[in-house]
Amino acid sequence: MRDLDEEAVAILRANDRGGFTVPTARLYPYQWNWDSAFAALGFATFDLDRSWREIEMLFEGQWPNGMVPHIIFRRDDPDYFPGPSVWGTDNDPPTSGHSQPPVAATIIRALFEKDASEGGAARARALYPKLLAWHRWFHTARDPAGRGIVAVIHPWESGRDNSPDWDEAMDRVEPARAKAYTRRDTSHVDASMRPTQSEYDRYMRIVEFGAEYGWGEDCLGRNGPLFVADPGITFILLRADRDLLAMAQALGIDEGQAEISGWIARAEEGVGLLWNDASGGYTARDLKTEKLSDGLSSVSFLAWYAGLGGAWLEDTLAASLERILGASAFAVPSFDPEHRKFDSLRYWRGPVWAVINYMVGRGLSEAGREALARRVHDDTRRLIEISGFYEYFDPLSGAGAGGGKFTWTAAIWLAWASPSASRG
Ligand code: GLC
Repeated sequence: MRDLDEEAVAILRANDRGGFTVPTARLYPYQWNWDSAFAALGFATFDLDRSWREIEMLFEGQWPNGMVPHIIFRRDDPDYFPGPSVWGTDNDPPTSGHSQPPVAATIIRALFEKDASEGGAARARALYPKLLAWHRWFHTARDPAGRGIVAVIHPWESGRDNSPDWDEAMDRVEPARAKAYTRRDTSHVDASMRPTQSEYDRYMRIVEFGAEYGWGEDCLGRNGPLFVADPGITFILLRADRDLLAMAQALGIDEGQAEISGWIARAEEGVGLLWNDASGGYTARDLKTEKLSDGLSSVSFLAWYAGLGGAWLEDTLAASLERILGASAFAVPSFDPEHRKFDSLRYWRGPVWAVINYMVGRGLSEAGREALARRVHDDTRRLIEISGFYEYFDPLSGAGAGGGKFTWTAAIWLAWASPSASRG
């Protein structure tokens, strides 16, 4: 039998570009934000020092206003579009202009708890003010009204590029093609597994807008082409705030504790604005129209991971998850398989992603929902055993799709899905 642990370690090593990893060669040749945080989780199973380094290099890209960008471009690579020159940002190293889901604090807390050395505490202490500044940026720039729900200005910021969650808001973005451009993604991966051309034209319109008017919060947000509150980022940030607070307490740092507690209280209240009775779960909310999106995506089930409880979760949300898992051979499809917009192969409109499974599974397990947690965990293991370390998987057939030898799939295998991992 092939040793999947060894294969996973080899993938992390092969995607290492000298202290940071690329998600996969060619398709994604730079450092991506949440991919790196998950990579650190994988490295932590065999090389703690390298794991800290991954995160430290991610924060080298942090902007003076606290934002940690979704891509850090350390060199220009013709394999990827849009590259550094298109974004019009002036950071050094060059970066994209918006962020990605803030999973880093949660992962840094895990590293800190695993690394009992003095060096570990010192590294966590050095990262703490950077994390605090990043979270503060999310709570202000992406929640300017202070409602406790966090929005994205670009579907890429959510990390779930073509999710149906953005469809209505995207319909209102003009698909301008001011400058002709050539997509690179579809030369690496079959077009049926990627966003459509019309979506890409709109993605590029938002990038053009940011490059033209500046990426500052005064230009984007309500004034930009798209502003949609995302249950994914809202839940991930709520969880990350709790972990950041726990880290401050463990390190004996007072600064920021009261502020973080305030964010947590506000989010616990605010998430009600994302509850969608008709869909039976949490959905996105377009802040330009106040309309909730239709249909459940997998991030709805991050409510447990966010530490939420109460009747909505215990009854309705758990029943929705059971229904969705009843309709899929493999947990957790990124979009409701019984919804007309489901597409089992197209990226975030159906396929299973190991990183989402990891967070959903952990949350369920922490909430004591063992049967559901086990299903999510065991399906992740089976998918990788059957198909390998793909970017994502078809929830009906289990086939791997998108890029191969994928960093975050290998990392989740090592940290959680492998029989040699502890399932926490
Ligand atoms: C895609 C995914 C995003 C990920 C990136 C690199 O854009 O949607 O979540 O960070 O690829 O893997």
